[in-house]
Amino acid sequence: MFDGTIDKNRLPRHIAIIMDGNGRWAKRQHKTRIQGHEAGSRAVREVIESCRKLGVPALSLYAFSTENWRRSKTEVNALFHLLSKYIRREIDELHANNVRVRFMGRTDRIPKAAWADFVAAMERTKDNTALDVCIALNYGGRAEIVDAARQIAEAVKAGTLDPAQLDEAAFAKHLYIPEYSEVDLLIRTSGELRLSNFMLWQVSYAEITVPDVLWPDFSHQHLLEAIAAYQQRDRRFGGRP
Ligand code: FPP
Repeated sequence: MFDGTIDKNRLPRHIAIIMDGNGRWAKRQHKTRIQGHEAGSRAVREVIESCRKLGVPALSLYAFSTENWRRSKTEVNALFHLLSKYIRREIDELHANNVRVRFMGRTDRIPKAAWADFVAAMERTKDNTALDVCIALNYGGRAEIVDAARQIAEAVKAGTLDPAQLDEAAFAKHLYIPEYSEVDLLIRTSGELRLSNFMLWQVSYAEITVPDVLWPDFSHQHLLEAIAAYQQRDRRFGGRP
């Protein structure tokens, strides 16, 4: 049984989470899907707090994918409403705790009122340094790679980039948040074994854990277990010792 001990000197620098299972949690509790997402937002609060206290520098959270538009209009509207409400409610505390809030994804379809709240949060917290929380909204890993390729093609067309100079490091500079172009630990809750189009470039060498817990029940203890599992892995990045 895991005793909660982790090595604070070998923390993952960037944790990404696919927060899955809000709907199943709601069903089990005889609640609505929206109530499931509300419970999920409480787990978000806890994981941000845990990462900050542990000293993990970056956390990316998959809140809304480019595929999630296929859900009912009621659920989509409720999710954006919930995200706005979350940001407005939490922003003072996040800022006081030196947390920087960032959003990544395509901004075009995000409802205007919600986007205004997100922009205000990004602007207010932009100089904070304790923890970067990157919320993926209208996000798709393939879309991110296509957007990067388009920027690169524009630079070549404009004559500012020589195609011969393009390598992985140069490509990664065009990702939505270039500083976090590597994920060390990817957590997907609810036990499903899929990437679901999340941070495809960044997870190339990520260690993956799939705790058998629905997202609203994910706690500080589950995070410690995932970090402990990560620390037990032998990360070779394709090489051999
Ligand atoms: C997946 O569960 C979850 C989502 C698509 C939304 C994630 C959103 C939150 C956790 C709400 C708040 C987020 C932030 C950043 C404050 P699902 O609905 O696919 O669950 P199911 O597979 O059990 O149906």
